[in-house]
Amino acid sequence: MEEGFLWYDNINMSKQIFITRRIPAHAEKILRDAGYEVAVSAKDGVLTRDELKAALASIQYDAVISLLTDVIDADVISSMPSSVKIIANYAVGFNNIDIPAAHARGMVVTNTPDVLTATVAEHTVALLLTVASRIAEGDRLIREGKFVGWEPMLLLGTDIKGKTLGLIGAGRIGSEVAGILHKGFGMDVIYSDVKKNEGLEAVCDAKFFSTHEEVLKEADVVSIHVPLLPATRHLINADRLALMKKNAILINTSRGPVVDELALADALKEGTIRGAGLDVFEFEPKVTPELLTLKNVVVNPHLASATEETRSKMAELAATNVIEVLAGRTAPNALP
Ligand code: DGY
Repeated sequence: MEEGFLWYDNINMSKQIFITRRIPAHAEKILRDAGYEVAVSAKDGVLTRDELKAALASIQYDAVISLLTDVIDADVISSMPSSVKIIANYAVGFNNIDIPAAHARGMVVTNTPDVLTATVAEHTVALLLTVASRIAEGDRLIREGKFVGWEPMLLLGTDIKGKTLGLIGAGRIGSEVAGILHKGFGMDVIYSDVKKNEGLEAVCDAKFFSTHEEVLKEADVVSIHVPLLPATRHLINADRLALMKKNAILINTSRGPVVDELALADALKEGTIRGAGLDVFEFEPKVTPELLTLKNVVVNPHLASATEETRSKMAELAATNVIEVLAGRTAPNALP
């Protein structure tokens, strides 16, 4: 039995994994326990294109665990050693990777779905409540020493209960958000997506619309849950913002470029809509300066999946995908 273990260990010792930035130590431990050698980028920051290419070219790596901040386009992929069999993205989103280019070189690309669904949904609801109840404005007011006592007209917000939630995209995270807001806040749910979600309709009595425009016109709260694709870039633009109700709130925890940020800043300034909660930005980490001058927007530094539990599960899933592929098995989260 011991011999078998040693044999397994020796096989894996030859395999090298590169992690582009420190993630919960869990991933490293799982990989090291499985016998792999793990190198973590020493830079506490996003690797530039040149740094990434140099790091990847330095050793015949077998696998790479990447982050959503790493731009892994065709150029970076072509510079990777042919020994790399898998790029395991530590995120559910994968718009940072040129998947066809990776596939063309025989590399599997994986993401980390499911484990972050509840956390991102909770964060989405938290952002909504922060905007609706003006919590961030209240916090700032007190810190600025401006709280002089209860006032009948101070920072009046808007109720959520019984209003209509409009999902733009109703996959795993959108459906979870709808579940919380339908069951907990009695919200009616409407949605648009490329296909109907019968589970969501059954659980939340949700109503499907074949166009985003119909959802935008009817919803009091619009929550965006689509992946970033060429077809979804600037999906929320000036024309679509103009369709929304004057009292509506827009929440985005998907990807920044889905919203035309300058058009959103104009809509918020002109009162076209009531408010917005943003966890993601069009030019992340930069935020369109006009937005930061406005009180009716709550901004958050891409934290929707950032809980200790979830980030640890994401690390575990990324490591599992690596182990499965390097063992010659099918990755649980291989992307088509
Ligand atoms: C993801 O995993 O894609 C999220 O944006 C992380 O917060």
